[in-house]
Amino acid sequence: MYLVEDQYQRTFKTLRISLTNACNFGCVYCVQGEEVRKDLSATNTALTVDQLLRTVSELKTLLPLETIRLTGGEPTLFKELVPLMEGLSKMGISSIKMTSNGYLLADMASRLAAAGLKEVNISLDAIDVDVFYKVSRRKDLHRVLNAIEQCMRHGIQVKLNTVIMKGLNDSQILPLLYYAGERNIAVRFLELMKMGYYYSHEFERYFYSENKILNTISEDFIYTQQERIAGATSNYWMTQEGYRFGIIANESSPFCGDCDRLRLDSNGNVFGCLSENTAVPVYGILHDKDELIERLKLALSHKQAVQFKGSKLEMIAIGG
Ligand code: 5AD
Ligand code: SF4
Repeated sequence: MYLVEDQYQRTFKTLRISLTNACNFGCVYCVQGEEVRKDLSATNTALTVDQLLRTVSELKTLLPLETIRLTGGEPTLFKELVPLMEGLSKMGISSIKMTSNGYLLADMASRLAAAGLKEVNISLDAIDVDVFYKVSRRKDLHRVLNAIEQCMRHGIQVKLNTVIMKGLNDSQILPLLYYAGERNIAVRFLELMKMGYYYSHEFERYFYSENKILNTISEDFIYTQQERIAGATSNYWMTQEGYRFGIIANESSPFCGDCDRLRLDSNGNVFGCLSENTAVPVYGILHDKDELIERLKLALSHKQAVQFKGSKLEMIAIGG
């Protein structure tokens, strides 16, 4: 029994830290409007590395934290990413992961590996330059592919994340599966989530279901489903060729029931659930253990029992 646990025996084992709400990409499923897309400056990064490390170290005294995932916006825009990872490693966090668009990653791969980065999820929504541009609003597919190669070379485990949007990049499902499979990388196809703009607009228009993704893959592959790992967001399948792929199906195959994720934003607030817009401030009260426990319990109570309900929150602010 942990101090912070709910009626489903859920607690927080994974901490996702959003290091900045700035991003150098403009993926259509994440940000809307040219203004946001042009804003490349790292804003709102209130907590320094020392303050972040202090926050993690206090949370760690109360929670069975196993994994820390660094997210954004785009975490490679956070200037002190290497010192932060070094600090987390020193604290005894052995499972440090990151989610990145890959644009700046190739040159950083060796330093990040040395600082303790074990695994990176790289967003790759297309393997065709024109489709890549339509989704990310950038022409730099080659930089992302190079990042994938460099991370693998330096021993960082790579997974690919692909958000599928109907009519936009569903043509990429098979090409991406070939690309990833031939390199022995797992690609995970994500159903569009009702967040930010899609909370109230055009969700049905772009939604491409798990079933449709599987049907598309059936055109070229025979596959079998693998057993789901507790707490995982993704279901996995293996093709006869040995290509492993996943589907993160928020709508079709919800996974809230054993979710163990806590999110910390760059201002020192935690969120127990993506469905809940209420920020729970913790940085200011770290010295008060009882209050911290109460606030973590509050965040945990925000988790959904079954299914993600959608949120006005933008993914760029909280990092998926
Ligand atoms: N639906 C699904 N996934 C999303 N992401 C961002 N916005 C959405 C959305 N609306 C995910 C992508 C990206 C990661 C940073 O967040 O997988 O790779
Ligand atoms: Fe940036 Fe990631 Fe959002 Fe794309 S999904 S705009 S890469 S934060």
